[in-house]
Amino acid sequence: MSIIEARGLSKSFQQAVKEPGLKGALKHLLVPKNITKVAVQPLDLSIEAGETVAYVGPNGAGKSTTIKMLSGILMPSAGSISVNGINPYKKRMENAAQIGAVFGQRTQLWWDIPIVESFSLLKDIYQIPEPVYRANLDQFIELLGMNEFIHLSARKLSLGQRMRADLAAALLHNPPIVYLDEPTIGLDVSVKQKIREFIKKINQEQQTTVMLTTHDLGDIEDLCKRLIIIDHGSIIYDGSLSEVKSRFAKSRVIFFQVGSPMPELYEQLAQTDGMKLELQNEQEFSVSFDRYEYTASDVVSRVMRHGEVIDFRMEDANIEQVIKAVYDGNLDLNQSGQ
Ligand SMILES: Nc1ncnc2c1ncn2[C@@H]1O[C@H](COP(=O)(O)OP(=O)(O)OP(=O)(O)O)[C@@H](O)[C@H]1O
Ligand SMILES: [Mg+2]
Repeated sequence: MSIIEARGLSKSFQQAVKEPGLKGALKHLLVPKNITKVAVQPLDLSIEAGETVAYVGPNGAGKSTTIKMLSGILMPSAGSISVNGINPYKKRMENAAQIGAVFGQRTQLWWDIPIVESFSLLKDIYQIPEPVYRANLDQFIELLGMNEFIHLSARKLSLGQRMRADLAAALLHNPPIVYLDEPTIGLDVSVKQKIREFIKKINQEQQTTVMLTTHDLGDIEDLCKRLIIIDHGSIIYDGSLSEVKSRFAKSRVIFFQVGSPMPELYEQLAQTDGMKLELQNEQEFSVSFDRYEYTASDVVSRVMRHGEVIDFRMEDANIEQVIKAVYDGNLDLNQSGQ
C-alpha cells in the first residue's frame, strides 16, 4: 500500500450568497442563502514513500483543500484517506506525529515567543528525544541560515525568515511525510534556493515523502519528478514531469550565433507559420518552432542556407508552456498531444 492513499476523496463547502451592501447583509441575516461549492471532486491519489510530488493548478483549483484533508485539518465530504495506514482526520494526534506541514500563507509558530522557544515547545509536544532534537536543530540552523533570527519572535521576522523557521518547525520531529503548501511564496531567489536545497536534502537523506503545492515552476523543476495537475477540483494529469514536458510542450527554441546578419532569412521566417524569429543583435537570434510541424534539423538547415552558422544551441522543452496552456484551458491532457 502507498504511504498516502486517497479514494473518492471530495470536499464541498457551503458558501453564502449575499447581495452587496448593508441591505444585502441584513437580508442574508434574515433569509440566509447558500450555494454548495465543490472544491474537490471525487479523486484518487496514491503516493509512494520517498516521492516528491508537485501538486499544481490555477488559483481556487482545490490544492489547499486537498492538502488540508490529507493532513487531517479538514474533514472530507466523502471518500477515504489513509496516510501511513492512519485516517488523518479521525486519528489527528497519531497523524500529527508522522507528518509535517507548512502553509506558506500563514505561520504555525507562536507569534510572541522567540523562534528557538517555539522549537523547544515542539520538542515537548512531539516528545522528540534530546539527541535527535539537538542534531536536527543544529543542522536546520546551518542549512537554513537561521542564526541571525532564531532569538526573535515570529512577529518580528521577515517573510523569508518566517518561512524558514516554519519549515524547520515542521520537520524537527523527523516526520516521514511532509506537506508544503506554497513554501516559497513571495520569497527572494536566494531564500528560495535555500529552501529548495533543504527540501532536497531531507528527501534524499531521510526518504521523506514530499507533497508540494506551488505556483513557482522553478520549485517543480528543481524538486519534483512527479507532477499532479488539478483543475476545478479534478485531477487532469498525474505522471512524470519529464513526460508531460516532452509530450505537451509544443514549441522548441534554437538559439543561433551567425557570421553576419541574414535579412532574407528573417523575411522568410516572418512568413512561415509555426516558426517565430526573435532578434537579439546583429549576429544572434532565436527561432522558436512548433515541434509537431518541424524538426530541429529543418530549422538548422534552413538557417545554414543563408550563411555561416558559428554556433547554435537548443533549449529544452519548458514546463512553463505546458502549465500555462493548462491554466488557460488550451491543453487537453487526455489527448495525445500530437
Ligand atoms: N472554508 C471554505 N469555505 C468556503 N469555500 C471554500 C473554503 N475553502 C476553500 N473554499 C473554496 O474552494 C475552492 C478551492 O480552494 P483552495 O484553497 O483549495 O484552492 P487552491 O487550489 O489552494 O488555490 P490557490 O492557488 O489560490 O491557493 C475555492 O473556490 C475556494 O473559494
Ligand atoms: Mg492554496
